[in-house]
Amino acid sequence: MSTRPPPPFGTTTQRSTVAPSSRPPATLSNVTLISHPLVQHKLTLLRQRERSTSSFRTLLSELSMLLVYEVTRDLPLVYQEIETPLAPMRAPLIDGKKVVLLNILRAGTGMVEGMLRILPSARVGQIGLYRDPKTLGAIEYYFKVPGEMSDRDVIVVDPMLATGNSAVAAVDRVKTAAPRSIKFVCLVASPEGLSNLREAHPTVPIYTAAIDERLDEHGYIVPGLGDAGDRLFGTK
Ligand code: URA
Repeated sequence: MSTRPPPPFGTTTQRSTVAPSSRPPATLSNVTLISHPLVQHKLTLLRQRERSTSSFRTLLSELSMLLVYEVTRDLPLVYQEIETPLAPMRAPLIDGKKVVLLNILRAGTGMVEGMLRILPSARVGQIGLYRDPKTLGAIEYYFKVPGEMSDRDVIVVDPMLATGNSAVAAVDRVKTAAPRSIKFVCLVASPEGLSNLREAHPTVPIYTAAIDERLDEHGYIVPGLGDAGDRLFGTK
């Protein structure tokens, strides 16, 4: 087993295409590549074709807990007087109304479940989009978020940033609710999806555990992990 990092982005070895997921952090502005070894290890397990539905769910949930830890790193804190069993003190708490996890249906569901273990009081919004099979454009069929969005930070969640069309449409839509901030988090991004989202929403920070090689002609990420929704729900 080699401990050497993979060759530069998108290169191919004789035996396989190397997923460049453990490259050093990307220098793209507004993109954070979460290169923590636990994240990279679990992502590799998740990608494996033979992984069972049950194990896929568990790993996706564990990965989401690790990702949300990074994504919430800069949430603002306020100080409040509390009493411990021994003494009063001023102690930090997260400022503002509860964070909103915006689930891009349906694969986002598996990540939201994991994130809620770390943020159990978070609110959950839902956006339903389907992909027009010809244009690959995103068409909305459902949208619901909590009230008082101007005091809330939104984390838009989808495991795969493929064409980027769903992500762009989800951010477009949640912007109409004028939240305090918006971030986007995925597990695997394609270069095309990253450019699309960064171009449409340059101020929205993007978090991903991997930037893969390319999209195929059906809009799937290669090497990717297949259809995240099908693997999560066991529908294929
Ligand atoms: N959606 C998925 O689930 N997988 C991809 O590779 C692309 C979009």
